[in-house]
Amino acid sequence: MDRRSLMWMTFMVLVVVTAVYLVIMEDQLAVRQTPQAHTSQDTGAGGNAGAAWGDTAKEAGGNLGAELGDPAALAGNNAGSVWGDMGEAAKSNAGAVWGEAKPAKLCILKTDTVFIYTPACGSDVVQSILFRFGYRRDLFVALPGKPGNPSILQDPRSGDILREYLLKPSAMAARADWDINILAHKVRYNRDALHKVVNGNAKYITILRNPLDRFETDFVASHLEKQFDVEQREHPPALRRYLAAPEFWEKRRMRVNSRCTTNCMAEALGIPVRGRGGNALPEPDGNGVMHYISKLESDFALVLIYEQLNKSLVLLKRRMCWGFRDILYDVSLLEPPATQRNARGESEKLQFRRLNGADHLLYYHFYDIFKAKVAAEGDDFHREVRHFERVLDKVSLYCSSALDDVSVANQTVVWGSEWDEEFVVTRQMCWSLRRKREDWDKLFRERYTHGSQSQRNN
Ligand SMILES: *[C@@H]1O[C@H](CO)[C@@H](O)[C@H](O)[C@H]1NC(C)=O
Ligand SMILES: *[C@@H]1O[C@H](CO)[C@@H](O)[C@H](O)[C@H]1NC(C)=O
Repeated sequence: MDRRSLMWMTFMVLVVVTAVYLVIMEDQLAVRQTPQAHTSQDTGAGGNAGAAWGDTAKEAGGNLGAELGDPAALAGNNAGSVWGDMGEAAKSNAGAVWGEAKPAKLCILKTDTVFIYTPACGSDVVQSILFRFGYRRDLFVALPGKPGNPSILQDPRSGDILREYLLKPSAMAARADWDINILAHKVRYNRDALHKVVNGNAKYITILRNPLDRFETDFVASHLEKQFDVEQREHPPALRRYLAAPEFWEKRRMRVNSRCTTNCMAEALGIPVRGRGGNALPEPDGNGVMHYISKLESDFALVLIYEQLNKSLVLLKRRMCWGFRDILYDVSLLEPPATQRNARGESEKLQFRRLNGADHLLYYHFYDIFKAKVAAEGDDFHREVRHFERVLDKVSLYCSSALDDVSVANQTVVWGSEWDEEFVVTRQMCWSLRRKREDWDKLFRERYTHGSQSQRNN
């Protein structure tokens, strides 16, 4: 064998070895992306592992995108220089693994949130999501001074939330001004008052529901018939009697301990729908209401829709840069659908609508906005919602068996997807998903008054 062919053979062997090496490297890089995804959870990037992988780059996690981007570029360069002319094949191969790395949109985790609680609209679900989020991330969640109170007190005139009305965490004992990260107890929306106590860049959210369905659920669940000075009898059911003559009933509202019965969503959102002394204004003026609604539209980052809860939560996840784990919920916290009613006639609906004009304007306005927001998210959004529903089903299946039966595995894994990283659901997390406001209240109080930092991992 002459010198030339020896060199030629050595060269060929080198090429083959390099090729094998490259293929192995690529596999390793591909495998390694999962653990990388994990670390980004801790740094709070909370991005989507899938994001850097091409088409789904829309809501990419900032950090993660950068992390994945570098090795991808590196692999590409390497392949190019080693393979020389044959580099094209290697590059397209690498392309297949890393996807068409589109520039990832930066997704910055948002934590500070104000939730305006609307009655019988699925608010308990959103509230518990925020409590769980705040607890796990050790944020300061506003608590009423009085243990167990569902509402935070406000000055009846100005709507101000005085700091004396709130629990002051012991860690802030020395400070006069401290900011709230999460506020999810009941308050009446008042932008100026809230801006005085809540972190300035907090996102404002709320949830709305079809007014008649909302009313029916609230009426039955809260025994609203007791708010009216009318003869109480079994038949026909109070709800049907009310809906047959709502104006008659409203004239017989009792003044003491009165609960909201008309335009209750508008009321929670600070729209002036009552005159002096709490009487419903006879005909809330449509233009005035629209003026408030457009202010709400610019103040609120997102208005969720009860009938579209899963979509609403995925939209929230995208806006806040959260993970599926953050928006899981337990259906037991959801208000029952309105089932008590019998078919209603048009005239009943009209009468109801006349008394709840502000709520109707509010609901249909934000319903349209919601639909437009969903449409703007594109097809990928619907696939993400379906995936979220599968995750919800998996978690609720696991939790319902794990909470009843100690022999069931201590945890289950929700695999990563193009929209989220893998995460583990533990029994403890199942408990926290079912925890009611009263129990959250106790847990937070414990943490803020004794500085206990334990049990953060649920
Ligand atoms: C949300 O998803 C769950 C789980 O798949 C499903 O049972 C429920 O009906 C969905 N709710 C809405 C409002 O789509
Ligand atoms: C769950 O964890 C507990 C405590 O760590 C352990 O005693 C038990 O055997 C575990 N159960 C299962 C099914 O793994």
